[in-house]
Amino acid sequence: MSKPRLYSGMQPSADSLQVGNYIGALMQWRDLQEAYDAFFSVVDLHALTQPNDPAELREKTRRTAAQYIAAGIEPAKSTLYVQSHVAAHAELAWILSTVTGFGEAGRMTQFKDKSQRYGSDATSVGLFTYPVLMAADILLYQTDIVPVGDDQKQHVELTRDLAERFNSRYGDTFRVPMPVIQQDTARIYDLQNPTAKMSKSAESDAGVLWLLDDPAVSAKKVMRAVTDSDGTVRYDREAKPGVSNLLVIYAALTGRQIPAIEDEYAGRGYGDFKKGLAEVVVNEFGPVRERALELLDDPAELDRVLAANAAKAEDVANRTLGAVYDKVGLLRRTR
Ligand code: TYM
Repeated sequence: MSKPRLYSGMQPSADSLQVGNYIGALMQWRDLQEAYDAFFSVVDLHALTQPNDPAELREKTRRTAAQYIAAGIEPAKSTLYVQSHVAAHAELAWILSTVTGFGEAGRMTQFKDKSQRYGSDATSVGLFTYPVLMAADILLYQTDIVPVGDDQKQHVELTRDLAERFNSRYGDTFRVPMPVIQQDTARIYDLQNPTAKMSKSAESDAGVLWLLDDPAVSAKKVMRAVTDSDGTVRYDREAKPGVSNLLVIYAALTGRQIPAIEDEYAGRGYGDFKKGLAEVVVNEFGPVRERALELLDDPAELDRVLAANAAKAEDVANRTLGAVYDKVGLLRRTR
């Protein structure tokens, strides 16, 4: 029997991934790639919805792919590729946009937040249709599960709605995917502002732990993380958001339970606790960083791996796209 299908992706929107991407998504990907037929993309078309320097975008795309591999995604086992290498993504997005309601797309909270921040003249139509392209990513591969952090849940719900609507309008075409969200690590917060999500586009660098940061810099950021004046290492999301966030990161990176970590640091100050976490962070990311930089030393080899994987992805994607074109009534081109 064939394995169920998994699909997920990340935007190449910074030089490095951040700890939220790693804990909220990459760690799950790594674990799930054994039991699933997994597809992981670097979604460069999505990244175009933000201002980019073209040469830098190309470099960030490679860097993101290198970090997937360095973090344990195996390109011989999973299909790891660049979204724009498979033309079917943009083509299916167009078809899906014709079954998406204007109001429905306007209710996406990420769009609402970003468009409010930028103002309507600086908000592109691409940002508006961003979730439709994400639905195309997922539906092209007849996906069963989509492992993501909490902030992508609404987009996966939209994907399900579009799949169901298309299927009922044109006949069974798409598998309806399920989001998979690891509840306890679904949202990692900014170290300096622990009620805001840690994000690649955060305004201040001090609150973001980057996978490719120099280990000494990461350690310093942990030591300077915002806590509180209570002084006890205890999980309480409401009253102690800073310490709770650090506990979640600690537990996720070590595979330990939060109460065991609380016990270990009972009666000791935040300084000790942060030192412990800094060590955990350096031990976890040091090797990932080294491996990623090694891969980036040989961009031709990395590009070769990405090209071979894009060919595998294209086979699957084109099969779905062909079925969709037939279903909606586009005339087949004769060969
Ligand atoms: P992106 O690039 O913003 O984030 C990549 C993944 O990291 C998760 N994540 C977090 N998890 C926990 N805490 C955080 N602070 C945190 N920040 C980010 C995100 O939830 C995500 O899983 N639209 C997507 C990319 C995408 C995609 C797809 C994902 C495009 N097509 C198809 C899945 C399937 C995005 O912008 O992710």
